Amino acid sequence: MLNGLRIVLGVSGGIAAYKACALTSKLIQQGAEVKVIMTENAQEFVTPLTFQALSRNPVYTDTFDEKDTSKIAHIDLADWADLFIIAPATANIIGKIANGIADDMLSTTILATEADIYIAPAMNVHMYGHPAVKRNMQTLEQWGYRFIEPGEGYLACGYVGKGRLEEPETIVNAIEKDQEKMQLLAGKKILISAGPTQEKIDPVRFFTNHSSGKMGFALAEIASKWGADVTLVTGPVSFQTPAKVKRIDVTTAEEMYDQMIAQFEKSDIVIKSAAVADYRPVVTYDDKMKKKDGPMQIELERTKDILKELGERKTSQFLVGFAAETNNPIASGKQKLRNKNLDAIIINDIKATGAGFGSDTNDVVYLHQSGERSHFTLATKQEIAKQIFVQINKDTKVD
Ligand code: CTP
Repeated sequence: MLNGLRIVLGVSGGIAAYKACALTSKLIQQGAEVKVIMTENAQEFVTPLTFQALSRNPVYTDTFDEKDTSKIAHIDLADWADLFIIAPATANIIGKIANGIADDMLSTTILATEADIYIAPAMNVHMYGHPAVKRNMQTLEQWGYRFIEPGEGYLACGYVGKGRLEEPETIVNAIEKDQEKMQLLAGKKILISAGPTQEKIDPVRFFTNHSSGKMGFALAEIASKWGADVTLVTGPVSFQTPAKVKRIDVTTAEEMYDQMIAQFEKSDIVIKSAAVADYRPVVTYDDKMKKKDGPMQIELERTKDILKELGERKTSQFLVGFAAETNNPIASGKQKLRNKNLDAIIINDIKATGAGFGSDTNDVVYLHQSGERSHFTLATKQEIAKQIFVQINKDTKVD
């Protein structure tokens, strides 16, 4: 379950920090990549070097220690994570998260991540039972944070009771089980296209569009997290490949056509979120075109409509298109759904607030060929991707 996942392990300042060393090692043995953040107090118990050696990655201790000047470390790490584990989690870090406090590397990164967060508390039995701690944990639970309850037994403070950090093996098993429950798309082969295409004019110029690839990458990320076997055919974009996703890079519409056709037959669900160029120059030049006086013309020819071709070849695949529209989005989307023989289309009014190219959010209408439609209102592209897959899952269920 954890093989290939990118895990950030947050270690806060309790005696159980020593158990986080074994936890790091167990996660690595499961095939995960682990990066550790330690609070200042955690370093009173264990040194960063221990975690560095176990994780084979640098350890993060200070928000302002920017290791790579091209990135902001806590945002980069927050985006990198597929999973976030806080073990041991003290009453202090639980309180900080529940109240939105971000005053060190760990609390700041937690606030910035969209990954699933698991919290394994460890503290004195009376602290664990304190109404403030209980209230904070309830708040976090309501927000979707998952807890791995502490065990009962002899505590380092001398008390006997609940508050002992669960054993590393139990933590790993609990996370694996929980992740397994979320495998909504297990066994499905999903093919997704993303990003723009580039159509060459000469060695320095090309035609392209504003597609950032964010929606397609969000779809690939969620599908993979939910257990699908994902192939992502992408035009030129600068995103990290989501964990466990097979990525195929292409540049032109023709290359995207070749790859989509090659992957199509073996796929169960195909989503074409790429913004494919409809035209390309008839002639391309190997040397740079020099400017001349007066206007110039470049003759363009049509590229292949990949989605239409897939619609014609469709057998059992569930085929989903995107429609980026500025006028009459629903009517235009409906027409594309019919013309291209799709099972569903995701209609995007690119003039709507928060729904344009390059935006982190989206607002879409999912239209099924039966005419049934759902509006997924303004949310992050990851959230929209989840709603799309919940709907596709319903639409592909055999009763
Ligand atoms: N599409 C494609 N191949 C093309 C053009 C578009 O596969 N050459 C796909 C897109 O990936 C998208 C859907 O068709 O899933 C609709 O794309 P869009 O650009 O909105 O519409 P077009 O069909 O190109 O029509 P128009 O540009 O006239 O709106």
